[in-house]
Amino acid sequence: MKTQGVGITITEHILRQERQNPRATGAFTTLINELIVAAKVISREVNKAGLVDILGATGRINVQGERVQKLDIFANQIIIQRMQHVGQLCCMGSEEDPDLIEIPPEYPKGDYIIVFDPLDGSSNIDVNVSIGTIFGIYKREGGSPNSDILLSEVLQPGIKQVAAGYFIYGSSTMMVYTTAKGTGVHGFTLFPSVGEFLLSHENIRIPEKGKIYSVNESNYQYWDNRTRALVDYFKTPDRKTGRPYTSRYVGSLVADFHRNLLKGGIFMYPADKKDPRKPSGKLRLMVEANPLAMVVKEAGGYASDGHGPILEIDPGELHQRVPLYIGSKKDVELAESFISGSAA
Ligand code: AHG
Ligand code: MN
Ligand code: MN
Repeated sequence: MKTQGVGITITEHILRQERQNPRATGAFTTLINELIVAAKVISREVNKAGLVDILGATGRINVQGERVQKLDIFANQIIIQRMQHVGQLCCMGSEEDPDLIEIPPEYPKGDYIIVFDPLDGSSNIDVNVSIGTIFGIYKREGGSPNSDILLSEVLQPGIKQVAAGYFIYGSSTMMVYTTAKGTGVHGFTLFPSVGEFLLSHENIRIPEKGKIYSVNESNYQYWDNRTRALVDYFKTPDRKTGRPYTSRYVGSLVADFHRNLLKGGIFMYPADKKDPRKPSGKLRLMVEANPLAMVVKEAGGYASDGHGPILEIDPGELHQRVPLYIGSKKDVELAESFISGSAA
């Protein structure tokens, strides 16, 4: 009798990819597996957030000057706790921590670096809209695992990521990741009855051109004329170019990005004059833009700051913000032509 298989687990998938990489040591698999445990714990809390006192704000303001939600703190702590003991990391960087997070001396170190946004879409936590976790993994270049890591060793351009991806806690919990190097983008859905992420979206490819634009239009008065002209372009009827595009924006980057990755389209968080402390817009280069830029690149899309590839930006600081135009290649290239002024 043919046994009912469970399908391909994420662990099996990573091991398959590892076997194709002669230099693989299994260190990466350990790292990802512990991150998955953290995501399963966060998913469980998200799914019962309405039932326990984990909603609402902590009354604290984070390094970004934003109200911190309890689930942000919970997710941050879970990831740090799970990751610090795996023995593969030399340090971590989190949206919720002003400085690099060191590996406690009682744990062995390795030469991987993980940067993450533990809970993306915080404003949606208590209204049951999808939220997520975003991560990027780098390898330490030079330096020995026992020497203290310098911030300059962490601030690598996004193109150097050896893996990147996100978890989305929505109608189902999914993990989408890539190990860069042309290995594609793969999506896994958590099957609570099995307790495993199973392959559900193999080799995701984003359509070259979409029909969706995602942007918070309430910022229109704070944009410069090129940004306004770009968004007006997507709204202007023109049958030949499939316009007007439809507008979709839920306010969780992971949810807006994931929808556009599967269906095609462009997500924009432009520079604006709304907050003088954030002239480059709200999104962070290291923990939001770079990981998603790597995913979209490996899926055939593109991510730009309006002038050039996100992945080629040399970071100046850990919490640097950056304008973000990300999604279908043709739509993002068009956005770049408007913002950089090269549009005809
Ligand atoms: P985070 O919850 O990690 O701070 O991220 C929130 C971000 C991102 O998820 C989303 O795209 C953006 O904030 C929405 O910002 P606006 O509410 O200004 O549109
Ligand atoms: Mn975020
Ligand atoms: Mn966050």
